[in-house]
Amino acid sequence: MRLTVAIDGPAAAGKGTISRAVAEAFGLAHLDTGLLYRATGARLLEGLEAIEAARSLTPEDLARPDLRSPDVARAASQVAAIPEVRAALVDFQRAFARRQGGAVLDGRDIGTVICPEAEVKLFVTASDEVRAQRRYEEMLGQGHDVTFEGVLAELRERDARDAARASAPMKAAEDAVLIDTSTMTIEAAVAAACAQIEARR
Ligand code: C5P
Repeated sequence: MRLTVAIDGPAAAGKGTISRAVAEAFGLAHLDTGLLYRATGARLLEGLEAIEAARSLTPEDLARPDLRSPDVARAASQVAAIPEVRAALVDFQRAFARRQGGAVLDGRDIGTVICPEAEVKLFVTASDEVRAQRRYEEMLGQGHDVTFEGVLAELRERDARDAARASAPMKAAEDAVLIDTSTMTIEAAVAAACAQIEARR
C-alpha cells in the first residue's frame, strides 16, 4: 500500500502524538519534519552557516538530545524562513513520503508543499492557551525553569513567524481536514485522525 498522510499545524497542537499513534495503528513509517529544522537550528547556534548546516545534516544530528530546547525551537523557526534551507530539505522528505508501505509526515508545509498529492491531509490545531498549557506542563516535567506566560509568548512568536514567512508558510491545504484538539482528549484526537485515514485509504 502506498499511503501518504500529511499532518500539519502549529506548535503543541498534538501533531506529534497523533502522528506517532496513526503510524503505529496503520503500520506506516513516521517522519517528524520539525526535527530537520531543529537540527539545522541547533547547528546554527553552534556557529555553522544555516544553509550549509541544512545541506550536511546527518542521522546523528537528528538524534541530538538538545533538539527540544526552547532556544533550538526559536533557531529552527528562524532557519525555516530561509528558502535555501527549505530547498535543501525537500528531497529527503519527499523520498521518505514515497516509501514502500506508506508514511506519515508531520510539519507545517507537508500538505501544501512537500506532499500536495498526499491521500490524507490533516490540519491539527488548538487554541493558543491550550497549546501553551500543554507545552508548559511538558517543559516543567522535563525540569525546565519556565512560566506559562513565557511559554505562551514563545509559542505565539514562533507561530507568527511560521505563518508569515514568504517561503512555504504554515497553512492548511485547501483539501485538509481540520482537527481542533482544544477540548479533545488524546484518545479522541487520535480516533478522529484514524477515522479520516480509514475513510480515504
Ligand atoms: O514541529 P516543530 O515544533 O518541531 O518545528 C520546529 C520549527 O521548524 C517550526 O516552528 C517551523 O519553523 C519549522 N518547521 C517548518 N516546516 C516543517 C516543520 C517544521 O518550517 N515542515
